Amino acid sequence: MTAREVYLDNSATTRTDPRVLEAMAPYFSEKYGNPNSLHKYGREARAAVDTARAQTAALINAEPADVVFTGAGSEADNLAVKGAAWALREKGKGAHIITSAIEHHAALSSVKWLGKMGFEYTILPVDGRGMVSPDALEAAIRPDTTLVTIMFANNEIGTIQPIKKLGEVCRRHGVMFHTDAVQAAGHIKIDVKELPVDMLTMAAHKMYGPKGIGALYVRRGIKLIPTLHGGGQEFGLRSGTENVPAIVGFGKAAEIAKARLDAGADKKLAAMRDYFIEGVLSKIPETRLTGAAGDDRLPFHTSFVVKYIEGEGMLLLLDAAGIYASSGSACTSGSLEPSYVLLATGLDHATAHGSLRLTMSHETTKEDIDYVLEKFPPIVEKLRAMSPFYNKK
Ligand SMILES: Cc1ncc(COP(=O)(O)O)c(C=O)c1O
Repeated sequence: MTAREVYLDNSATTRTDPRVLEAMAPYFSEKYGNPNSLHKYGREARAAVDTARAQTAALINAEPADVVFTGAGSEADNLAVKGAAWALREKGKGAHIITSAIEHHAALSSVKWLGKMGFEYTILPVDGRGMVSPDALEAAIRPDTTLVTIMFANNEIGTIQPIKKLGEVCRRHGVMFHTDAVQAAGHIKIDVKELPVDMLTMAAHKMYGPKGIGALYVRRGIKLIPTLHGGGQEFGLRSGTENVPAIVGFGKAAEIAKARLDAGADKKLAAMRDYFIEGVLSKIPETRLTGAAGDDRLPFHTSFVVKYIEGEGMLLLLDAAGIYASSGSACTSGSLEPSYVLLATGLDHATAHGSLRLTMSHETTKEDIDYVLEKFPPIVEKLRAMSPFYNKK
């Protein structure tokens, strides 16, 4: 009998849905045309890109012409932040940007880089649940503020921001609003016709699509300065021959995600999440949920800090038990510094070191969760028995 394996790192990436893979396959082989070619093969590829654009737009109730495909979620964040900041400065509107302390590096580092290019920025703090306050945003807006970038939902702690309220503040002050929805899109309902957002980032690989393909929703009429120059593909905003198979895969993944959301799959997952959180907190003493709970949390997301031990130790022993989790975000794990996201929520360094993130998918079963609830507590006990901090108590 093969041992059970439970993949709980779906915030890092998801398994590509077989239906997505099937939709992509012909665009590597018989339908390999360049969508910019005028012949039959080109027209076939162009039609596939158009269909995928419509599917991706439908996921967030956008118009197809308002969706730009990029090479990753990170690239879409870069295009939004740098593209809007430069365009607005060129128009003489100012050069002040506002962001939050818990953004993904794709947005945060873009803002900081702009800081080196003569822009000014303000980084808003978050509360203990990782929430940005709309009042604090309003207070930070200056006459020369042009752009606000605040993520829809956080990758490390699962907190969903009050996007509508934050967007309303921006609207009131005539400031452009971008949100990084890489973790949220496909997992919770997003409607850009209802939400006051001007730009929104998505990535296919977080919603059972392929890696290396992102999308930026850009509200009609907004002018961005491109970050990639060349042949002028993607409405002049992202030069480079379109990655047709990946774009087709994004479209299919978005279509499947929309059908799931319409069927209420997020509610089912949220119920399992709460069962999981409750199980961990009741079985492991001196453990805390990080981030927000209930409707303010991503439905597939759990994250904890387990006192007196290190996240890495838990990861290794969980891995040996066939349970694949993460400690902090995929790109910063491996560093010895505790997560800046956890520190921003007010945790001290020692506690933040004991972080563990377990993120589910639609394939995760109750049996998987029960398996983790059986294996995880003795792992913590074992590590605590070896911990100098625990024994000193
Ligand atoms: C919130 C958030 N933004 C952006 C990204 C970057 O997306 P990509 O991996 O497609 O570049 C990630 C990926 O971890 C993310 O979680």
